[in-house]
Amino acid sequence: MVRSLAARALNEPSLSVFKFLRRIGTARPQLQSVRAFSALMSPPSKAVVYDQHGPPDSVVRMVELPPVEVKENDVCVRMLAAPINPSDINRIEGVYPVRPPVPAVGGYEGVGEVYSVGSAVKEFSPGDRVIPSPPSSGTWQTYVVKEQGVWHKVDKDCPIEYAATIIVNPLTALLMLDDIITLNSGDSVVQNGATSIVGQCIVQLAQLRGINSINIIRDRVGSDDAKEMLKKLGADEVFTESQLNVKNVKSLLNSLSEPALGFNCVGGNSASLVLKFLRLGGTMVTYGGMSKKPVTVSTSAFIFKELSLRGFWLQKWLGSDKATERGRRIDYLLSLAKEGKLRYEMELVPFDNFNVALDRALGKLGSQPKQVITF
Ligand SMILES: NC(=O)c1ccc[n+]([C@@H]2O[C@H](COP(=O)([O-])OP(=O)(O)OC[C@H]3O[C@@H](n4cnc5c(N)ncnc54)[C@H](OP(=O)(O)O)[C@@H]3O)[C@@H](O)[C@H]2O)c1
Repeated sequence: MVRSLAARALNEPSLSVFKFLRRIGTARPQLQSVRAFSALMSPPSKAVVYDQHGPPDSVVRMVELPPVEVKENDVCVRMLAAPINPSDINRIEGVYPVRPPVPAVGGYEGVGEVYSVGSAVKEFSPGDRVIPSPPSSGTWQTYVVKEQGVWHKVDKDCPIEYAATIIVNPLTALLMLDDIITLNSGDSVVQNGATSIVGQCIVQLAQLRGINSINIIRDRVGSDDAKEMLKKLGADEVFTESQLNVKNVKSLLNSLSEPALGFNCVGGNSASLVLKFLRLGGTMVTYGGMSKKPVTVSTSAFIFKELSLRGFWLQKWLGSDKATERGRRIDYLLSLAKEGKLRYEMELVPFDNFNVALDRALGKLGSQPKQVITF
């Protein structure tokens, strides 16, 4: 349901329009009134907003935000596409360690087209295709106004759904594959949650490096199709968890080398299966917890297999002083996507059907491809 913000504020006398806008960080009310005749303003923006944490399907709503000032160093971007990622859901639930204060506009990454620029902006012009890099809160709205340093120019030849999704998941896959241990052609990696976007990217990036991938997916309706999809992307082996209910999982490796590196985004039994595949001295990286179950490791695995466990959090990497490195790696991933060497399953959903996309992203309708909102 779309309600005007003004109407909403009237219904909530304790929260004025300006106070609300100030809290979601999109308006400077005093400046706006003083410079009303000279300031460059954005168009009004339709936005998915939450003003308290909780289950996303009950706390988010569509509102219309009034125009905000585009200050001299600001760029106003008309959004084209933005995904719904698990971390977006966690931010709304209030369980993600870094989250914007409420009320907030949802979304964290996306792609848009420059609509207007402030008087001091030289690097961007209307029509440029841009992504927020590092990602930045508030992409689930039709117009985003942020300081020029937030934006990274991207090639218009890259399909918008890839430009919109290139950082959170593909960059995680790339960094985990390239930066954690040295892997050589012919080595193997093992991962669970292989149907995720991160998982699909690991399969393809590994193949590009001559690295084999052993993939674990959960038992569910459509698991045969999921196996086929992963094989087409270049997966060497794909197993459902139940197929790995054998005494010696390594007997299933055939001619593949024992993996030195494992990736876990599920936890519980699925993480134990990743550990079982690892070779002596192997490392498992935990980067997600989709099953919400803890990772448990047997004492003997620690001692006799000399395993190492570690975590990875993209947000920390993005927060470090690596702007040049970040741009280089993002451009590499975008070029792969443009050349069709990096693909993953997505479903594009018009913004007006946001609630449907949200239900799908929440898993209410079973396993679904990544939901990408188009504006
Ligand atoms: N640490 C970091 O910096 C970082 C960065 C990016 C992503 N992540 C994490 O990486 C994970 C994947 O993200 P994504 O956006 O690539 O995922 P996605 O494309 O949205 O896919 C969700 C994945 O989770 C699986 N899944 C959903 N519910 C599950 C459950 N209850 N038990 C087991 N598996 C379940 C799905 O399996 P089906 O196909 O069987 O439904 C699918 O593989 C998430 O945990 C995310 O938070 C972490």
